[in-house]
Amino acid sequence: MHQQTVLEQPLLKLAQWTEGVERSALQQMLMRASGPDVISFALGLPAPELFPGREFSEAVVSVLTSQALALQYGPPFLPLKSHIVSLMRRRGVDCTEDMVFLTSGAQQGMSLVARLLLDSGSEVVLEECAYTGFQQILQPYSPRLLTVGTDLETGLDVDALERLFTRGCRPALVYAISDGHNPFGVSMDLAKRKALVNLAERFGVPILEDDAYGLIQYEDYPIPPLRSFNDELVFYVGSFSKILAPALRVGWIIVPKGLNDLFSIVKEAADIDTSTLSQRSIAAYIDLFDLGAHIKTLSQVYRQRRDTLLQALNTYLGPRARWSKPRSGLFMWVEVADLLDSAKLLARSLEKEKVAFIPGSAFAVNGGSLGRNALRLNFSNSPPDLIDEGIRRLARLLP
Ligand SMILES: Cc1ncc(COP(=O)(O)O)c(C=O)c1O
Repeated sequence: MHQQTVLEQPLLKLAQWTEGVERSALQQMLMRASGPDVISFALGLPAPELFPGREFSEAVVSVLTSQALALQYGPPFLPLKSHIVSLMRRRGVDCTEDMVFLTSGAQQGMSLVARLLLDSGSEVVLEECAYTGFQQILQPYSPRLLTVGTDLETGLDVDALERLFTRGCRPALVYAISDGHNPFGVSMDLAKRKALVNLAERFGVPILEDDAYGLIQYEDYPIPPLRSFNDELVFYVGSFSKILAPALRVGWIIVPKGLNDLFSIVKEAADIDTSTLSQRSIAAYIDLFDLGAHIKTLSQVYRQRRDTLLQALNTYLGPRARWSKPRSGLFMWVEVADLLDSAKLLARSLEKEKVAFIPGSAFAVNGGSLGRNALRLNFSNSPPDLIDEGIRRLARLLP
């Protein structure tokens, strides 16, 4: 896909790493195509009609009328950390308040982990297609990116990782999404999770576990995250974005012991505090209302949307394609047998059928060719009838 450099400004000398930064034509195309008549499977947005707006406004009012410190700079809010300890217990992770480090979203959590673990030119292991937000975090470090494959049913190729390690590679970190992978929509199976942690322990390599979606689960028996098997090498990153609202910009890291002070220093340099008002309002919301019930509702609605998408793919695409069946998260990865370039398909799809999605190639690490025959489809942001209609239209354009 055609790329444009972000800034062409001859007088201004920017840092060297910005030279490689490109703005993709894809981003521009999607911005132009966000009109109300477009059925969008593109972005990873939660369903806006499920935001608990009324309840949250009650929580904000209660905070603002009783806590003057809610508008002040302030230390991390301990009651919120206690709520996160309970959420983590639900997730199968035992931790204490002193291991919870509050961040401005999972995105900042990952930036801070990168800041602590990476030097310029460090090696990092990712899957061949990876969340673009993490790839952007890495860019200023000009890292050496090493990739391993992904199985659409069981997740990251742990054997390939072992081969890398056995050949002597000792990356600064391995990036993994064990649940609701973005973009693949797969959750790693239990055996692979254990094997991955085992490898990290054997070779002394840290893992950044991005669990932005893991509290939204569609099957009865969620698999515990990597952090439940190791508390020294796994940096677990969580978020309120998908279980409450992304606009609050609150997430957390479960940090290995002894690193809290260093995290505080890099966090202070980045943005001083996570919004005190957001921290206290979320804590008040959880005190006043039932976050567990809210997560259950989200999971039920998104499960139904996932099932509608699965059904529509079956009906309209059938044997022409194969796709992941997400147990968690908001995305499905669809590989179409004879599709040569999903970016070109997107242009036609926007023009002729008014359907948007993200071409798989947008996630390729190192500009690889993986994903050219694939589409990443989000299923949380459209009601079932639009999901069905969108796939029906899309199928008309597919080989
Ligand atoms: C895989 C993944 N990690 C992290 C994030 C960032 O989440 P947050 O809103 O908590 O910063 C996203 C956002 O969509 C994501 O898809």
